[in-house]
Amino acid sequence: GQPPACTAVDDWFAGLFLPPNPALDAALEANAAAGLPPHDISPLQGAFLQLLARIAGARRILEIGTLGGTSTIWLARALPADGCLVTLEADPAHAAIARANIAAAGVAGRVVLRQGAALMLLPQVEADRLGPFDLVFIDADKPNNPHYLDWALRLARPGTVILADNVVRDGAVLDAASADDRVQGVRRFAEMVAAEPRLTATAIQTVGAKGWDGFVLAVVA
Ligand code: DHB
Ligand code: MG
Repeated sequence: GQPPACTAVDDWFAGLFLPPNPALDAALEANAAAGLPPHDISPLQGAFLQLLARIAGARRILEIGTLGGTSTIWLARALPADGCLVTLEADPAHAAIARANIAAAGVAGRVVLRQGAALMLLPQVEADRLGPFDLVFIDADKPNNPHYLDWALRLARPGTVILADNVVRDGAVLDAASADDRVQGVRRFAEMVAAEPRLTATAIQTVGAKGWDGFVLAVVA
C-alpha cells in the first residue's frame, strides 16, 4: 500500500531525530511479546504526538484507546510535572501490559489508566472533572469514533486539539459502501468533524513503518 522505501525513510529520520528511548523500545517489545495487535504508533508518529502536545501547551490529555501504552508514554512525556493524562482501555490484558510499560517508563505519576469500555468510562471522567482536556487522542475501536468525537467535544475547551488515528486505512476510507464497520466509523467521524461548526480540521496521510494510513487533526473554536 505504499512505496517500498517508506520504512527505510522512517528509519533514517528516526535515527536522526529521535534520541535513544529504551523505555519505548522495551514497551514495543513487551507489546509484541504479549501478542498485542501491531497497532502501536510508530516512533516518528509518537514524536509527532509529543510535539503537538508541547505546541499546544497541554497539561491535561485524554487518550481513548491505550493498547500497550506506547502513545501514552510519548504523550505523558510532553506534560509538565503537574500535568495529567487520562487513558482508557477496554481490554484488561492490554491495560495490564500498558500499566507495566507506563510504570517502567517512569510516567505513572502523570497517567491515570482506567480499564473498561470507553463509552462506559467517559461519563465518570466528566463527573470526576478530569477535563477539560487540552488534547484528545482518539485511537480505540473505530466503529465508535462518532461517539468519541461527541465526548471529545463535551470534554473540550476553546483551543482543544483533537487528533484521531487510522483515518485512511490503505485508502479504504473512500469506500462509501464498505461492509467494514471500522471504515464506516471513520467515515461518519470525518463527516461529523466537517459538519461541526466548532471544529477546524485537516487530514494528514501517512506512510512509513505502519503502512498507508493517516490522522485527522482538528482544533475546537
Ligand atoms: C487498527 C487500529 C489502530 O489503532 C491502528 O493504529 C492500526 C490498525 C485496526 O483496528 O485495524
Ligand atoms: Mg491507531
